[in-house]
Parts: sequence; structure tokens; C-alpha cells
Amino acid sequence: MEMKKLTYYSIAIGILAFCTYACKQPQQNSAEIISGIVWNDTEGNPINAHGGGIMFHNDTYYWYGEFKGDSTYRLDWVTTWECWRAEAGGVSCYSSKDLVNWTFEGVVLPSTPEDETSDLHPSQVIERPKVIYNDKTKKFVMWMHIESPDYEKAHAGVAISDSPTGKFTYLGSFKPNGEDSRDQTLFKDDDGRAYHIYSSEWNKTLYIGLLNDEYTQHTGVYTRNFINLSREAPAVFKHEGKYYLISSGCTGWDPNVAECAVADSMLGEWRVIGNPCIGSDADNTYHAQSTFVLPVEGKQNFYIAMFDRWNKTNLIDSRYVWLPLTFKEGKPVVEWKDKWAF
Ligand code: GAL
Repeated sequence: MEMKKLTYYSIAIGILAFCTYACKQPQQNSAEIISGIVWNDTEGNPINAHGGGIMFHNDTYYWYGEFKGDSTYRLDWVTTWECWRAEAGGVSCYSSKDLVNWTFEGVVLPSTPEDETSDLHPSQVIERPKVIYNDKTKKFVMWMHIESPDYEKAHAGVAISDSPTGKFTYLGSFKPNGEDSRDQTLFKDDDGRAYHIYSSEWNKTLYIGLLNDEYTQHTGVYTRNFINLSREAPAVFKHEGKYYLISSGCTGWDPNVAECAVADSMLGEWRVIGNPCIGSDADNTYHAQSTFVLPVEGKQNFYIAMFDRWNKTNLIDSRYVWLPLTFKEGKPVVEWKDKWAF
């Protein structure tokens, strides 16, 4: 009898302890954005879309990102820098109507484990994918950073699809305008012209190139920007007719201070206006690195600044830092928020 009572007590205490523990865990409330915690998709799996970008199409947001393999390893034969790697799993896509609840649409550009010679083999690197829609060809066009395991290849890759959720057909990779292409993004302007923005010349100089009408190739029109200033992780947006470019310095997976520049034309001249981040940890971008700035549909003067908080020894567990970006006294400002809602 005494023994039975003890068992009931133990079970009750166990349940109580579990509930207390569960309540204390940070949760992603369905209406709130909480940076730095694990974000689950609508099926309860952690979102795997790193270095990503978002495209708005037919009332839906599509988030594309790096689908990282689940083990991280360091390439010890690369001695000049800390080359932490996860297998390249291709490019994932998640869709959402509210930017908080994300449905996994699958790996829309899969890696090709069966073909060791392919750019998309898991041993290679597929980073910072971005997708834009071409109104003329009705194709969704993806550009991404394609690398060899030691990051010496420095190519841009291109893929196209008839649907935002793929599958995308890979068209191949190359050095745009004959030069390196590493961290990169795309920007589609209101006039339908699109630009490829990429760290070049061993990451020393940021190139901006005008794409052709199909958005699948460069036109040969390009500018060299921030010459020898080593900017990467570019994220571009337009506000009241001016172009803004947020970027990071080059410190691998480790965070550093962000910088914003403004221009009257995408091809430059770009004028540096300083760090858009304010408050504590602004000098290391809240332990994160820029990847994209999203204008929120239907809201003026309101953007989401998207960053990656890399976890270099467990890359798949890198977290997302999304913060509101607004304009104050004519300048973009990003401030840390523990949680926020639209
Ligand atoms: C960063 C870059 C990341 C990734 C990493 C590799 O500088 O922004 O996208 O390439 O280097 O160390």
C-alpha cells in the first residue's frame, strides 16, 4: 500500500516537473517572431533554409534557403581559414501567408548524390540561393553561390522553374563577367530589370551586374563597388526611389559589424551611411550576418531584415534573426526585439 502511494506521488511530481520545464521553453507563438530560437515548420520540423531570401508571388511568401546536411565537419586540409562544412542538401522552399507559419514545400533544387562530377553533389557547396519571377518568360529564376569544398571555385549557379515550388532545373555555373562570385543576392527592380550582386575578386570588391531579359545570364553591364573594402552577405532593397545595400565584413562564419550604403541607381555610386543596427550587440549584428531585406506587403516604411546566426560547429542548427527595419530621420534602422509581431 505505502509503495503504491509512493509510485503515485513520483508520477505526479514527474508530470509537474515536465509541465514546468515545457512552459519555460521559448515557444514560437503563431503570431510572433522570436529571433534565435528554433523555428519549426507547420509539421513541427526545424526550418532548414539558411542564407535565404523571400519572394512574394500571388499572395504567398516563398522562403528559399540552403538545405544543410545534419553533420558538420571541418576540412583540415584547408589551413588558411576555419572551413567548417555541412553536406549541401540543395535548396529548400517554405511557403507562408503570414510570414510566421511556414509550410515545407520540399527541396526544390535537390542535390545529386549519384553524380560526383555535378556542382550539386553534396560534397560541394550551395549557398545563398535567391529567387525572382520573370514576368516575360513566366519562369522562376534562382541564382546561388556554387563552390568547391575549399571555397576556391567561386561560381554563380542558375536554375529555373515553371512553378515557385519547383522542381527547378539546373542550368549550370560560371564566373560572371570572368570574375569570382561568392556571397550573392538578386534584386528585381520596379521596371522589370534584375541585378546580380556578388562578392568578387577574392571577396575584396562587390560587383553588381545587370541581368539579361530572361534573368538567366549577365549582360556584361556591371560595376565594381566598395573596391578593396571586402564586403559580403549583400541584401538589397528599395525605399522611396533610393536603393539600399546592407552587407557584412568578411570573417567567415563569425559575425561582425554590418554596414549600409545608399545609391540613386543599382549600378552605383554607393555612399556608405553606417551600421543600420542599434543597441546592444549592434557591433556584431546581434551575433548574425545579413542575408535579405523583405518589404512587407501592404505596409509602408516597414521591412524585415533577415540575418543568419551561424553555428559553425553545427551548421544545420544555425538560427534565424529577423528584425523590423524602419526609416528614422531618413536612414534605415534595425533594433533588437526579444519578440515582435506585425
Ligand atoms: C561567410 C559567408 C557564408 C559562408 C561562410 C563560409 O563569409 O557569408 O555564406 O560562405 O563564409 O565560411
